[in-house]
Amino acid sequence: NLAGIDIGTSGTKVVLIDDTGRILASAYKEYPMAQPRPGWAEQDPELWWQAAAAGMREVLTKSGLSGQEVQAVGLSGQMHGAVLLDKDYELLRPAILWCDQRTGAECEWMNEELGTEKLFAWSGNPALPGFTAPKLLWLRRHEPEIYARIKHVLLPKDYVRWRLTGELATEVSDASGTLLLDVTKRRWSEEMLAALAIPRAWLPPVYESTEISGWVTPVASSLTGLKPGTAVVGGGGDQAAGAVGAGIVESGLLSVALGTSGVVFAAADEAQILPGSGLHSFCHALPGKWHLMGVMLAAGASLQWLRQTLACKTSYDSLTALAAGVKAGSEGLLYLPYLLGERTPYPDPAARGGFIGLTMRHGQGHLVRAVLEGVTYGLRDSLELIKEAGVPAAEIRVSGGGARSALWRQIVADIFQAPVTVVNSTEGPAFGAALLAGTGIGVYASVAEACGKTVRVESRQEPDLSAGETYEKGYALYRSLYPLLRETMH
Ligand code: XUL
Repeated sequence: NLAGIDIGTSGTKVVLIDDTGRILASAYKEYPMAQPRPGWAEQDPELWWQAAAAGMREVLTKSGLSGQEVQAVGLSGQMHGAVLLDKDYELLRPAILWCDQRTGAECEWMNEELGTEKLFAWSGNPALPGFTAPKLLWLRRHEPEIYARIKHVLLPKDYVRWRLTGELATEVSDASGTLLLDVTKRRWSEEMLAALAIPRAWLPPVYESTEISGWVTPVASSLTGLKPGTAVVGGGGDQAAGAVGAGIVESGLLSVALGTSGVVFAAADEAQILPGSGLHSFCHALPGKWHLMGVMLAAGASLQWLRQTLACKTSYDSLTALAAGVKAGSEGLLYLPYLLGERTPYPDPAARGGFIGLTMRHGQGHLVRAVLEGVTYGLRDSLELIKEAGVPAAEIRVSGGGARSALWRQIVADIFQAPVTVVNSTEGPAFGAALLAGTGIGVYASVAEACGKTVRVESRQEPDLSAGETYEKGYALYRSLYPLLRETMH
């Protein structure tokens, strides 16, 4: 039996599976995110560890298994966050998260002063405000007394690994999102570290996602119920681990994750360095594989916002039922999903959202439907970039909370004009992390074999041609809006 832990932004999920991929138990522990200023996003890493330990105890109790019966653990989590430890391994401040937008000036400096050519040659990616390196530059300028005490920099799931195993370590897929990794060579970029004057010694060793990175300590054993010495593998950033959980391990399959953020993800056989494209080019959680992805910041977050502010917290099911009563195209109402700024295709922390085209005819159902359509148009922007990079999109696998809505899945099929499938495992990155754990200890010969044995397509929806025509027009209008409105947002 295998365990997977996913350190999410809204909560931590823990799953236990058997070798066939059957879910034996799962647990979810929520925690808040702090927004000390507009555009800032922070979290106390202690919350992650408490949630992971409590979640592990809960799945052991629910499944009736003892810690002895869990062979290995895989970790996954929100990417890009900066966790800062001092010389005694104490936390220096709350972690600065992936959706934090404070580093606009640092990114501008990196993109302009270092220049696109060097950034792409060294890391394969542009400087975007969510990434880790610009957060360190921000701390150097704005919190010098904290910066001076930094001895270790970790990613969110790697902090949990530290508490679980006493090892400081990371792995290639999550490390790709720091901007400090040479994505092509799958190791820290000495050039980038030197150019930014960030000490190499702050960073932990980088493993492949399936390698064993440490073993559960006696203290962690008493807190989690796992047996001391249980292997903990590298694991993956939540996008890469989620893709493994959905079986996206070869080129041609695309995944769309409808979580708080929205992600279009494609596996690739080579590192694709695409200056100026707006896509992320990262290591995949399989040795010798990479992936491309476009990230939209407010996907599910848009619907969550609508629900909280305009719909008196009606259930998501009731909201999507209202939207289902409205025709494709929301009678001309368009929604711009840039509530948190944006990353792909517009790397712009100042981008803002909006409803355009409101009339007295529009009711709640139109608002909800326009949000689902607007978010999906935003994802289509990423799809177009991935297609431009030469990666085909024969089938779209949808996952995340939004995938529970048959209406939203159909909207994805219609706007992407491609079949949409859903796989059996709905546990996402935690499930993928468990498969990586199983591969690490030899239960499966490879990640592809792990997926082959455990991941099955359970539903398929075909695109509707007439809705597709309506959406082509809507998408063209949507595309024109950000460039037209950009001035008003800055
Ligand atoms: C990926 C990203 C987000 C977080 C969400 O680049 O920033 O998807 O990983 O958890």
